[in-house]
Amino acid sequence: MSFENTTSTANKVLQLLADGECHSGQQLGAMLKITRSAIWKIIHEIKSRYSIPVESVAGKGYRIIGGLNLLHQKTLVNFVEQENFTALNQFILLNSIDSTNNYLEQFIVKGNKTRIACFAEQQTQGKGRRGRTWISPYGHNIYHSLLWSFNKDPGEILGLSIAIGVAVAKTLKNYGVDTGLGLKWPNDIYYENKKLGGVLIEFRASAHDCCYVIIGVGINTHLSEETINSIEQPCTTLKQILNKNVDRNRLAGLLLNELIMTLNEFDQQGLQPFLPRWQELDILQNKSVSLQLQNQQITGIMRGISPRGELLLARNEKIENYLSGEVSVRLV
Ligand code: BTN
Repeated sequence: MSFENTTSTANKVLQLLADGECHSGQQLGAMLKITRSAIWKIIHEIKSRYSIPVESVAGKGYRIIGGLNLLHQKTLVNFVEQENFTALNQFILLNSIDSTNNYLEQFIVKGNKTRIACFAEQQTQGKGRRGRTWISPYGHNIYHSLLWSFNKDPGEILGLSIAIGVAVAKTLKNYGVDTGLGLKWPNDIYYENKKLGGVLIEFRASAHDCCYVIIGVGINTHLSEETINSIEQPCTTLKQILNKNVDRNRLAGLLLNELIMTLNEFDQQGLQPFLPRWQELDILQNKSVSLQLQNQQITGIMRGISPRGELLLARNEKIENYLSGEVSVRLV
C-alpha cells in the first residue's frame, strides 16, 4: 500500500486557516518559514484559485469565516476497516484536480490488478453523467473515485452501477440520514425528491476476462444558496438535511469502507443480493417517466429493474428493458 498526499504551501496555509480563527501574516509566515509578503501572495492565490473567501481583519490577520473541514488522510482512513483498507494498492488525497475520475485513468495498466482510492478537495472540471458538469467547490462535498479491476468479462459487471447506488445510500444512512433517502435509476441519490449525490462509472475493458472500472462518487455536503439555485435540477446538501456541519473525513471514510465491501460482495455474488435493497430505495416505482435515449425521448411506467439491473418500462402493453448508462430518466 502506498500513500500520496499532494500538499502545496497554499494548502498548508489553508490547513492553518481552516479553524476559522484569525491568524496574523507574521504567525503564518513563522510557522511555514516564509515571509509575510509570501503569505500575502498565497492568500491572494487562495482567494482567486480556490474561490475561498479569506477575510483580512485589520491589525489581526486573516481568517475564513466558519472555517473549513479539510480532508486528512489519517482521520479519514480511521473510518475504514483495516481488512477493507488493505484491499487497496494505493490511497491518494489530492488538493485540486480536473476530475478524480480522469486522474485515475493513468493507473490502468493492462493485465495489472489495480485498486486505487482517490479523494480531492476540489475538482476544476468535475464530470456528471451525460456530459454534464459536477460543481465541485474547494473544501466542501465529497469528490471520490475508486479504480477497481475485475477478473470478469465486461458483460458480467453491467449491474455494478445498481450496487454502487445502494452502497452510497447505505453510507448516508450510516452517517445519520434515517429517512427520506431514495435512488433514481440507475444510481442518482435523492433526498425527498432533491438530488443529494451522483455516481459516474466508467468501464474500461482490457481482455475478455479482465476489465477495469472507475467509480466516481460525488456527495453534496455543503453548497451556497447561490450555487444550489444555479443547478438546473432541485438539489440539496447533507448540511441542509441534518442541520449541522458535516464531518467530511467520517463521511469519506464510511463511503470508501462501504464501496470496498460492496465491490467484494458484487465480485463474489453478482447483483443478486443488491436487488431487494435497491427496490426498497427506488423512488420511481410505478411512476410515469420519460426516458432520454440517444436520439429520441419515450415515456412509460417504471416497473423496477431486471436481475441484470436493466430498467423495466411498461410501454404499449409490453415490458421493455433498458441498459444502465443508455438513458436518463425524468419524472413526467
Ligand atoms: C451524476 O449524477 O451526474 C454523476 C456525478 C458524479 C460526480 C463525481 S465527483 C467524483 C468523480 N469525478 C468526477 O469528475 N465525477 C465524479
